[in-house]
Amino acid sequence: MGLCYSEKRRKFGVTKGWAEFKRMLNRELTHLSEMSRSGNQVSEFISNTFLDKHNELEIPSPPPKSRERKRRQQQPLMTQISGTRKVTHGPGVSGGCSVARFGVKTDLEDLLAKDLENVNKWGLNISRIADHSHQRPLTCVMYAIFQERDLMKTFKIPMDTFVTYMMTLEDHYHSDVAYHNSLHAADVAQSTHILLSTPALEAVFTDLEILAAIFAAAVHDVDHPGVSNQFLINTNSELALMYNDESVLENHHLAVGFKLLQGENCDIFQNLTKKQRQTLRRMVIEMVLATDMSKHMSLLADLKTMVETKKVTSSGVLLLDNYTDRIQVLRAMVHCADLSNPTKPLELYREWTDRIMDEFFHQGDRERERGMEISPMCDKHTASVEKSQVGFIDYIVHPLWETWADLVHPDAQDILDTLEENRNWYHRMIPRSPSPPFYESGGDKFQFEMTLEGEDGETAHARQSPDEECRDQTSSPAET
Ligand code: CMP
Ligand code: MG
Ligand code: ZN
Repeated sequence: MGLCYSEKRRKFGVTKGWAEFKRMLNRELTHLSEMSRSGNQVSEFISNTFLDKHNELEIPSPPPKSRERKRRQQQPLMTQISGTRKVTHGPGVSGGCSVARFGVKTDLEDLLAKDLENVNKWGLNISRIADHSHQRPLTCVMYAIFQERDLMKTFKIPMDTFVTYMMTLEDHYHSDVAYHNSLHAADVAQSTHILLSTPALEAVFTDLEILAAIFAAAVHDVDHPGVSNQFLINTNSELALMYNDESVLENHHLAVGFKLLQGENCDIFQNLTKKQRQTLRRMVIEMVLATDMSKHMSLLADLKTMVETKKVTSSGVLLLDNYTDRIQVLRAMVHCADLSNPTKPLELYREWTDRIMDEFFHQGDRERERGMEISPMCDKHTASVEKSQVGFIDYIVHPLWETWADLVHPDAQDILDTLEENRNWYHRMIPRSPSPPFYESGGDKFQFEMTLEGEDGETAHARQSPDEECRDQTSSPAET
């Protein structure tokens, strides 16, 4: 831990072409899946979620039940974006122009003020902000970020319009969904705000690009129903139909985020020029579409190519002198913020894990009820939370953050250190296999061995004692 980057073993080595990159990962995952039943689940989760299988898979979908068919026939054709609705706001905006401190009325203003002092820190406690703001973390955090960056003045955004839009947006996140609610949106917006301030990117982005990145993060999961794209496709949902199975949720988040600007006193971009609005819209679309996890591997391959060819000025700031490069970094940045749970202080990370597993298990329950195959990591009876987090970090989060850290070197070293510590914590927490009776041990021999083979062929087994595992630093990509 704490080794300099160049000394670290790169799991995926130097940049390969996209096809080869994908082949390498497939090989890794096949190997993982062959090791054990739980290794197989983790491998399936990763390949189903993070590899774009479009055009590669034939997905059998169950025929709609006759009642559902009838209901669908009665619905009007797609003349409007589903999910948007009029909402009346509680505390916050009154009389259309007076706005409470932090945009939200609360009797815990002093506590909220204290929480928001950390708005420029990695590891801000968003849950506490929610508790101190009548469950309005997104509105509050966005308000604090826009104040901090003086964006209301720069873009002449009327304060009451800003708060009305943010509250409306927040109301379109589902509070009964465990992970993809407005807490996650606030977290991704605040994480993006921090990443934008990384020294290696100082003065690189225009105010409009900054506005677009923070706005994209705020809307990036709006109206999320708590189930995956694949679930929506497999159940012949209206959304999948609307977007022809392609980035179904991400297209929907964008449509809702933009549609809500048309509500009464909601157009926060009303004083931008036509050209600014067009450019902002184009950038936001690019960033939110890049949060589709099936695009992860190609985004990472492109980012690696950028790192290898990166140019820095004499003061160490990245040279990004064209739109293509700048938007590529912004896409990667929002994606990193979206995958930043495991890089946060452990107590926060564990809260996010509880939430995502709760949401996954809920989807699994729905799949079970419908007699569908249960998605990987969604079966509460068989999933291993700890192993899935280790796999998620080793195969997805660490390769991404390691590449980001290379791009902005040395700014993200602390983040990478925390990620590695958290990964090792979950690794230590993998339950040790109870010793099976002799006659039972045959078939399930590898059940508790999630073995991640190193390049040198060495392997580490979860059967080791936690102490032994802790000492073993050669077993996986994140540990080297
Ligand atoms: P979303 O927020 O839409 O985009 C990032 C995805 O990564 C997220 O949905 C989850 O599907 C997945 N993800 C994020 N954090 C975790 C985690 N801690 N464990 C497993 N999957 C995660
Ligand atoms: Mg999403
Ligand atoms: Zn998200």
